[in-house]
Amino acid sequence: MRVLVTGGAGFIGSEIVRTLVSSGHEAVVLDALLPSAHGGGAAPPGGAGRDDGMVVADVRDREAVDGALRGIDVVCHQAAMVGLGKDFADAPDYVGCNDLGTAVLLAAMTGAGVRSLVLAGSMVVYGEGRYDCRRHGPVRPGPRAEADLAAGRFEPRCPSCGTELTPGLVGEDAPTDPRNVYAATKLAQENLASSWARATGGRAVSLRYHNVYGPGMPRDTPYAGVASFFRSSLARGESPRVFEDGGQRRDFIHVRDVAAANAVALETVSAHGPGGFRAYNTGSGQPHTIGRMAAALASAHGGPAPVVTGEYRLGDVRHVTADSRRLREELGWKPEVGFAEGMAQFAAASLRPAPAVPRR
Ligand SMILES: NC(=O)c1ccc[n+]([C@@H]2O[C@H](COP(=O)([O-])OP(=O)(O)OC[C@H]3O[C@@H](n4cnc5c(N)ncnc54)[C@H](O)[C@@H]3O)[C@@H](O)[C@H]2O)c1
Ligand SMILES: [Zn+2]
Repeated sequence: MRVLVTGGAGFIGSEIVRTLVSSGHEAVVLDALLPSAHGGGAAPPGGAGRDDGMVVADVRDREAVDGALRGIDVVCHQAAMVGLGKDFADAPDYVGCNDLGTAVLLAAMTGAGVRSLVLAGSMVVYGEGRYDCRRHGPVRPGPRAEADLAAGRFEPRCPSCGTELTPGLVGEDAPTDPRNVYAATKLAQENLASSWARATGGRAVSLRYHNVYGPGMPRDTPYAGVASFFRSSLARGESPRVFEDGGQRRDFIHVRDVAAANAVALETVSAHGPGGFRAYNTGSGQPHTIGRMAAALASAHGGPAPVVTGEYRLGDVRHVTADSRRLREELGWKPEVGFAEGMAQFAAASLRPAPAVPRR
């Protein structure tokens, strides 16, 4: 396959490129090398250009995208502004990069006759995960009340009877509930891809990644994932600071497994088959608490041990855990990097240097 990987200079995109190239595919990267992700003055690796497979351009630049699409069979769309941002003033940049960018890309693909797309989706589209009440069955709690958080009552409560809920595994057909700008833009990307597939007869897959970690993960910035915060604290000789009571459950998935999921999804969408859009949760299937993850990282790093602070952030969701059976069953993917092994490696791996200019 000849694959255009947008965002191919990023944490996940660069791992996808390595995976594709090592299995004999051709990859062309289109990446704007955003200062917010790479620091100011990031030079393209080796001053590369289109002929060496690296186009430094914004995905909103139609002419550049048209050029990058020449000879391409399938697109792997990773380019996005990630994380939660600093405040609402970031919204136009998120919407511009993520949604206008996706629209320009899809229009260019239509023009070029490229009908196959894999999109980097996200579990953030679900909002708070899935819960069960002993009396009321599956329920969808709203945001947690600040008074509960302040009193150390962290588990979401049933909207009908107020009892503590038990977290379950979120399936792809769960209703979406994006709770911040980034989440809204990730859901809009899927909606655009789905409309594109309907209008053109194209095939699109969204891989809804859970918490991706691994070598090359950005260092702590307001935008990075929790594994990177902990890892950066340990590198400074400080204890990872675990919020709430450490019982928040997440699904941590290694970047190598995410790259492998992209490779199988790319094969699938580029094979002959009916058009349409389909979403796949992309998680390890083995949820862990944040407290346990901090302890695993700290012990592999040789300390110091985490501290549980009881701090909380309004708007954080308590538990988000994936049911990734669909990806295993329909696309034949399975994660290879176990939690203990992955965290031990990550404790020793290098992180991407912090950007030289503040992320915005
Ligand atoms: N890291 C995670 O845990 C996670 C979880 C869910 C989803 N995702 C998604 O995975 C994808 C890759 O994320 P990542 O963690 O590798 O982040 P990253 O910041 O390392 O990579 C994103 C890349 O996209 C590029 N980019 C951003 N806007 C662009 C634009 N307008 N034009 C061209 N290039 C642009 C950046 O320069 C960067 O190289 C994103 O779509 C993100 O939403 C990541
Ligand atoms: Zn109830």
